[in-house]
Formats: sequence, C-alpha cells, structure tokens
Amino acid sequence: TGDIRINPSILAADFVNMQAELARIATADFVHVDVMDNHFVPNLTFGPQMVERIQATSPVPLDVHLMISDADRWAPEYAELGAASVTFHLEAATDPITLARRLRAIGSRAGVAVKPATPVEGLYDVLDEFDQILVMTVEPGFGGQSFMADQMPKLARLHDEARRRGSQVWLQVDGGISESTIAQAAEAGADTFVAGSAVFGADEPDRAIAALRRLATE
Ligand code: DX5
Ligand code: ZN
Repeated sequence: TGDIRINPSILAADFVNMQAELARIATADFVHVDVMDNHFVPNLTFGPQMVERIQATSPVPLDVHLMISDADRWAPEYAELGAASVTFHLEAATDPITLARRLRAIGSRAGVAVKPATPVEGLYDVLDEFDQILVMTVEPGFGGQSFMADQMPKLARLHDEARRRGSQVWLQVDGGISESTIAQAAEAGADTFVAGSAVFGADEPDRAIAALRRLATE
C-alpha cells in the first residue's frame, strides 16, 4: 500500500526523437508503449522491431499495452524481446489465462486490459493469473481524450474484490490521466497510472511525473 507507479505513454512523444524523449522520463517507473494494429483499434503505431529498440534505449522498464487483435498469437513475442510487462486486451484474446501463463513463463509480468464497456467481474476468480489489470478510462486508440469518470465504480469494485481476496494484482488506469483526474482514480483504487499528454505535453516531464506522483499519493 502507498506503492504507486507513474508510467508515461510514449504515444504522446515525438516518434522521430524517441531516444531523447525516453531520456526525459528517467524518473518514471515504467515507459508505457502503446502497440496498435489498425484493426483492434482504428490507429497504427509500431510493432516488435520498434519496441525492441525502445527496450534497448529506455532508462526504465517497458510496460507494453497491446491494442491488437489475435493477442494469443502475438503477445508472447513482446515478452520474448524482454518487455518487463505485457498487457493484452481481454476482448482480443481467445484464452486469456493460457496466454497470461505463457507471458509469465517467458519472464514478463502478465496484464489484461478491459475497454470501458467490458465488465471485469469475470476476472474476479482468476486475479492470481495476472500481475496487472488495466481499466481503460478512454476508448483505446488515441491519446489526448477526456477521462471517463464513469469507469470509477468498476475500478472501485475490482479494488475491493482484490483486497478481499488478498490479491497482489496491480490496478492500472490509462486515458485522460492528468493532475486534475489522477486523484479520482487513486481514490477508486488504482495504483499504476499511465499518462501521455500530461507528461510529454509538459515543459518538464520529470516535474509532471513528480506532480502526478504526489497527487496520487495524497
Ligand atoms: C490510448 C492509449 C493511452 C494513451 C493515453 O489508447 O492506450 O496509453 O497514450 O494518452 P493520454 O494520457 O493523453 O490520454
Ligand atoms: Zn495505453
């Protein structure tokens, strides 16, 4: 408890200055890497070749967020290239538990993400199969969208359930997290916070990270 993580999303970084952008967030806990396939979401970012270079360049470990179809087939590749954490979407996996076990066997943390309309109740009995549950607070696909406060009851129920069961699972939120929204998410039980525009849009990303950390801990 009291242990929180701030994971800046490089979706909001300058893609052609990635090395310099990564150097600006050295005080973060993880770098959040949004992989999109133009199929699961209507946007396209990068694949394993780019993620491997980010992995080699980043001062902090990788928190890979896969917004791709057929996660069962593609997610293990990201664990194999050395990502510390790989999160796939529940909606995109055929056998989420087998996939999570494979990710862990390769040596990565295993995360599962849910879109705003997707319930989490089905995960309550299998929380121990995952290291992280990502409750999306925007529709996945783009940075810079507004925080969906209507996801807080779902997050709070998940948090209560995890507490009741003595689970160690991290609860992550992603989308619209800023200095004005992070406290609500922390209050509802999130401990791992993704922030794209709030960090890379700031003049000094390290100060933005520190401010978010303070607001999430208060
Ligand atoms: C959205 C991505 C997010 C995005 C968040 O699909 O999963 O990680 O980068 O960006 P902000 O913090 O700007 O909402
Ligand atoms: Zn993300």
